[in-house]
Amino acid sequence: MTEPIDDDLGPDESSEALIAVHWREEGYYPPPASFVAQANAADPAILDAFTEDKYPECFNAYADLLDWYKPWHTTLDTSNAPFWKWFVGGELNASYNCVDRHLADKANKAALIWIPEPESEAHAAITYRELYNRVNEVAALLRDFAGLKTGDRVTLHMPMVPELPIVMLACARLGVIHSQVFAGFSGTAAGHRIADSGSNVLITMDGYYRSGDLLDHKIKTDEAVEAAAKEGQTVDKVLVFRRYPGKYSAQTPMVDGRDFFVDELLKDYKGALVEPVSLPAEAPLFLMYTSGTTGRPKGCQHSTGGYLSYVAGTSKYYQDIHPDDTYWCMADIGWITGHSYIVYGPLALGTTSVIYEGTPNYPDPARPWREAVKLGVNIFHTSPTSIRMLRKVGPDEPAKFDYHFKHMTTVGEPIEPQVWRWYYESIGKGEAVIVDTWWQTETGGFLGSTLPGIHAMKPGSCGPAALGIFPVILDEDGNEVPQGSGKAGNICIRNPWPGVFQTIWGQPDRFVSTYFAKYNKDPKSTDWHDWPYFAGDGAVQAADGYFRILGRVDDVINVAGHRLGTKELESAALTVPEVAEAAAVPVVDDIRGRAVEMYVSLKPGYAATPEVEGKVRDAIVTDIGKIARPKNIWIVPDMPKTRSGKIMRRVIAAASNFTDTGDITTLANPEVVEKIRQQVQSTKVAKGEVPRELSETELAEIKHFGSE
Ligand code: WT7
Repeated sequence: MTEPIDDDLGPDESSEALIAVHWREEGYYPPPASFVAQANAADPAILDAFTEDKYPECFNAYADLLDWYKPWHTTLDTSNAPFWKWFVGGELNASYNCVDRHLADKANKAALIWIPEPESEAHAAITYRELYNRVNEVAALLRDFAGLKTGDRVTLHMPMVPELPIVMLACARLGVIHSQVFAGFSGTAAGHRIADSGSNVLITMDGYYRSGDLLDHKIKTDEAVEAAAKEGQTVDKVLVFRRYPGKYSAQTPMVDGRDFFVDELLKDYKGALVEPVSLPAEAPLFLMYTSGTTGRPKGCQHSTGGYLSYVAGTSKYYQDIHPDDTYWCMADIGWITGHSYIVYGPLALGTTSVIYEGTPNYPDPARPWREAVKLGVNIFHTSPTSIRMLRKVGPDEPAKFDYHFKHMTTVGEPIEPQVWRWYYESIGKGEAVIVDTWWQTETGGFLGSTLPGIHAMKPGSCGPAALGIFPVILDEDGNEVPQGSGKAGNICIRNPWPGVFQTIWGQPDRFVSTYFAKYNKDPKSTDWHDWPYFAGDGAVQAADGYFRILGRVDDVINVAGHRLGTKELESAALTVPEVAEAAAVPVVDDIRGRAVEMYVSLKPGYAATPEVEGKVRDAIVTDIGKIARPKNIWIVPDMPKTRSGKIMRRVIAAASNFTDTGDITTLANPEVVEKIRQQVQSTKVAKGEVPRELSETELAEIKHFGSE
């Protein structure tokens, strides 16, 4: 490779848009006839109902899946572009739609089935009636004890227990905006989000099971409250659920006057009923934080009417949920997937949604299949990382169990065609249709997917755009990259859709600059055609119209389907006093897609020791959480830099991935590159960490990683 590395290449010029990607075209798999025969969408006429000439009114069909207190008068209001408003004039309540309205015909049907991780503990099935009772009681407590009211934000730091959706629905009942932080995130990370959202109540749990251990989760509370206080946000009340009501499972002391056991408080609210608040369609339903290129996390604000309509519609047509299905999405509710496709979408449709507390392969890799048989699961939803893991540790397990899935989903990262085929043949037993759903925290619901009863599947491609979504691939100058050209570019969505987030909480300018400014030519325009949504993903559109998503074009590392910003990782490392400079890069990982590798250089006078390495690792785990724990930390003599002093992340990414570093003659310190390469690669060889040969798309990502 002789391409010079130019100091002055900004993020734009170095993005994937310039790369032509070639790959072997995969063959089609038609949906199984048994699936088509029962599919919610089997008649291609549905495609005609969502063509561009029927936009935006086509989405009224999604809103019609809900019960509204007041009908909307305007489907889409673009007057304050790009802050779109959907179903304006309409009023509804999400809790009513997911709970109350099912009492008429489904009161005794299970809404949630909870699988505790220890197999010695019984499943808990919560009927719609029971859900109604519990949501009402918690809502009464939130209102009367915690003093929460419509428009307030409350932070949840809850594991995968039924209390989490119960609290979410209780918040929604009152119009309180919930902000659930993934339980695996550290207390400090929760604290930043508490401060950013301005929550003065934290709802958490004493402990939960993960890989056989009952973790002390309450320990994170003090860190969270302290981190929030440092940013000026006081937490007055911490509501603590107990994994075993009546018995405290954590070691950490409760703080008098601040911390309260929810099971004790609830005794005062037995049988309480709280009228669902009639809310405007645009009332925020929740915040979901995600990472971007700067350190400050982005609180993606989702609406009540647009969001709930979109997740109900896509759950119906893409997840093919019928009320009688038993649907198991193995994602965590702490991510958008869980919000949209464990809680809000499935419950809006009145189905049974399964929640699993623990790790998929605990105590052995047959666990998911035993549960699928026991519960009669027929729709299964997971990520490429879980599929790769189950394939590695228990490739022959699915065949031993007599479950039958009609439908399966893969989400969160690109899936390799060979992994897709194993999912289809082994987990799906060749009987289940697969949807590879491409979307994001920001988008609320699916953007790209096959319609499972209509379109053929193609391994490695998500398929065409979802109904009513009109994507375009643009190059850096805003020119359309034609389909079938084999060229990659930035995938954008030309039009607003009901599930799109409303803004970044407290950062409206960042909302516009990150997602819309790149291709907007007229900031004053109120015509949606002028505001393509920039997704931040590289993609290629094949001649058949199917999209293949290549991955992020920004400084985000996708670890097991979770976004980690390089800036967040680097600022954590920089809190270690010895560290002078830090750079995070992705390394291709056979299970998790990507893992993080951290490079640090030290201030003069400090030696590279295992202690410093440990401090960096701890700082990252403390600031972000275990999920961000680097695979390796390399203490290097110096960082490769441009003459203007920018760290060349792509050069060190090449060292970590054993790929070509390219021409480095324009660097200020080219001699350091070989030293780093030697240091990193000889250690990796010794540890047996040499990666397999990288695919074209992986190579492209590594070669262009980092915008500076
Ligand atoms: C990023 C969004 C979508 C919910 C879970 C992740 C990547 C997502 C796919 C897919 C290839 C995918 C993209 C996207 N991604 N789904 N089916 N194929 N890549 O949500 O944390 O907001 O991450 O995940 O890069 O931008 P998220």
